[in-house]
Amino acid sequence: MAAVVFSSFIAGAAGLWKIVAHRAVAGEPLADAERLSVEAGLAAPASPAASAWTLRGAAGHVRYVVSDEKVALGRVQPPLGREQATLAAFIPIRKSAAWWELAQDERRAILEDRSRHIADGMRYLPAIARRLYQSRELGEPFDFLTWFEYAPEHAGQFEELTQLLRSTEEWRYVEREVDIRLER
Ligand code: HEM
Repeated sequence: MAAVVFSSFIAGAAGLWKIVAHRAVAGEPLADAERLSVEAGLAAPASPAASAWTLRGAAGHVRYVVSDEKVALGRVQPPLGREQATLAAFIPIRKSAAWWELAQDERRAILEDRSRHIADGMRYLPAIARRLYQSRELGEPFDFLTWFEYAPEHAGQFEELTQLLRSTEEWRYVEREVDIRLER
């Protein structure tokens, strides 16, 4: 993806997605809400009255992916918004100061050489469509906003993948993670 796509995730009474589950995997949860609206651009944070919370991110270039992986991902990753993908997961994540103090090559070694995030994740494509948003540089409460879409018959596979990732060395650096499930 060459262009940077800014998005705002606005939780409140309105929106395409109905929130069906919400739990804190690590750290503080978010406020409860009924629905989630995903809007293009940077909405005002925590806009008044109607919204429970607003989180913002930018989806742009990759940071750790190497060229072979980029080609492989390009071949298998499906687009968002597929008709049959009526379920979604929105998982905001913040990593610890210890993670951010590491150099780029050390972070790549943990993420891929030792945790196999990309290689293992790729086995779940094209069942799962994904988009990663960077939030840290926007001064947001989370470093990343992760978004996944899948059909009901692949819900079990998505659970398997999240459990797998949460058992890795990479996840020892996750200090806040909120797991929100949605349907439309
Ligand atoms: C569906 C299969 C998945 C694939 C193919 C996948 C692939 C990737 C890739 C290629 C990156 C690196 C992007 C870059 O180079 O900047 C990445 C980063 C990331 N992924 Fe996944 N992923 C998957 C599932 C997940 C899941 C289920 C979660 C959350 C529970 C997750 C959370 C993250 C986070 C937080 C990052 C950013 C890590 C960092 O920059 O420190 N991913 N993923």
